[in-house]
Amino acid sequence: MDIKQAKSYQFPESVAGQDMVCDLVFKKKKVKFFLLVLSATVLFFVYVNQLSSKLFDPEKENYPSTPSIAISSDIQTLQNIPDRPSNHVYPLKKKVNYESSHPISLNTVELETGNLNPPTQQWAHAQIYKAMVYKNWTYPSVNEWGSCSSKTYYFSNLRTIFTGTPKTGCSNWLIALLNAEGVLRKEIDPKNVKFVHGGLTTNRRVSAMLRKKLVTPADLDKAFSFAVIRNPWTRMVSGYRDKVSSEKTQGGSFRGIGMAIVAKSRNISDPELLEKLYPTFDEYARWLVFKNGRLDAHFSPQIRTLCIPNAMYDYIVPLEHSARLSKDVWRRIQASDTPLLGSYDKSSDPRNQKSAVLAKRWLSQLPSEIVNQLYTIYEADFILLNYSNFTHPDFPLPLHF
Ligand SMILES: *[C@@H]1O[C@H](CO)[C@@H](O)[C@H](O)[C@H]1NC(C)=O
Ligand SMILES: *[C@@H]1O[C@H](CO)[C@@H](O)[C@H](O)[C@H]1NC(C)=O
Ligand SMILES: *[C@@H]1O[C@H](CO)[C@@H](O)[C@H](O)[C@H]1NC(C)=O
Ligand SMILES: *[C@@H]1O[C@H](CO)[C@@H](O)[C@H](O)[C@H]1NC(C)=O
Repeated sequence: MDIKQAKSYQFPESVAGQDMVCDLVFKKKKVKFFLLVLSATVLFFVYVNQLSSKLFDPEKENYPSTPSIAISSDIQTLQNIPDRPSNHVYPLKKKVNYESSHPISLNTVELETGNLNPPTQQWAHAQIYKAMVYKNWTYPSVNEWGSCSSKTYYFSNLRTIFTGTPKTGCSNWLIALLNAEGVLRKEIDPKNVKFVHGGLTTNRRVSAMLRKKLVTPADLDKAFSFAVIRNPWTRMVSGYRDKVSSEKTQGGSFRGIGMAIVAKSRNISDPELLEKLYPTFDEYARWLVFKNGRLDAHFSPQIRTLCIPNAMYDYIVPLEHSARLSKDVWRRIQASDTPLLGSYDKSSDPRNQKSAVLAKRWLSQLPSEIVNQLYTIYEADFILLNYSNFTHPDFPLPLHF
């Protein structure tokens, strides 16, 4: 792709899940009533999700640092992949006037043209291996889906395993998968809603299903498995916008955290005063550093929610390319009539979507030591798909060449 093509490149419509929380938002349903039912049930789902993650979420625990099983021979293929450079120099192609097409002033920077198309699955898997090497992890000789966090689900009709990491569009995927599974359609009956979503949240978690013998390891072994991964910077910004800022995108379900951040950073203890205050992005960033990644799954590194290294996914969807790759996923699970996931962001080019634009603006205003500390906290997530820094012209795309 040359510069001309790159500039006129149209990302496919509806980049699935961009800026979706794992919990809310569902678009394009014909019946208003259905929407209402859906939001109620999804809210219930969120509630149970929150509750359950407080109670027994295994991702609160550390993964064992060194799984006992020997390194797969596939690791050899890794040797050919160059290491990430430690500096900020990117290969130059041609200069374009970046500023004219982007709302954030970055002066004139180089437009990378290799990253606009989705990476191959082979590349994605090699990257994930690199993150595992970084973590000193190895895959077991057989997948251990039972060791996944509670956010790994199994859909028995589709014979599909899906890990939904918060802030990567997972509620959108879950709803679409339930649709494809044939569950939602059947259970639009409002009388069943509570039951349905009680079942949805608990009975489809792989670890619980194994425990209750609703699925066997042999079933899981034959299943198609996939996960969505997102640029850590945009995910972090999205977490701020949706969960703790005053922006009313998703209903402030983490209001308590927002107030706690303000209380800590401004030394305020009056609850009435706190009620009216929202953390700035700077305060949120410092709080993430202070917590050092030991946080609710909405804010902690994705690698803690993913089932890596206990199991190897068949398919990896970089959220930034999900409009295209979701079609591939549906084809593989033979649910190609499943409606594509929608996005409420107006730009279909992930580089111009709001969380990306805001990430560039806000992160460049943070002191560099905070940025560096954040980068370290999320470093494995960056390696997972060689994600671009916010200073890169192709931010937030995965950098694959
Ligand atoms: C990205 O930015 C962080 C923070 O400034 C820095 O530590 C890291 O080395 C950068 N990574 C690359 C690949 O340039
Ligand atoms: C990685 O694992 C090996 C083998 O168990 C161990 O010797 C080494 O110290 C580990 N390295 C790190 C950085 O944890
Ligand atoms: C925080 O406020 C309390 C009481 O308002 C005060 O005693 C304390 O010194 C303050 N701490 C800091 C670090 O400013
Ligand atoms: C990762 O990104 C860097 C630029 O930051 C690039 O030089 C390198 O080739 C990329 N690695 C892979 C495996 O694509």
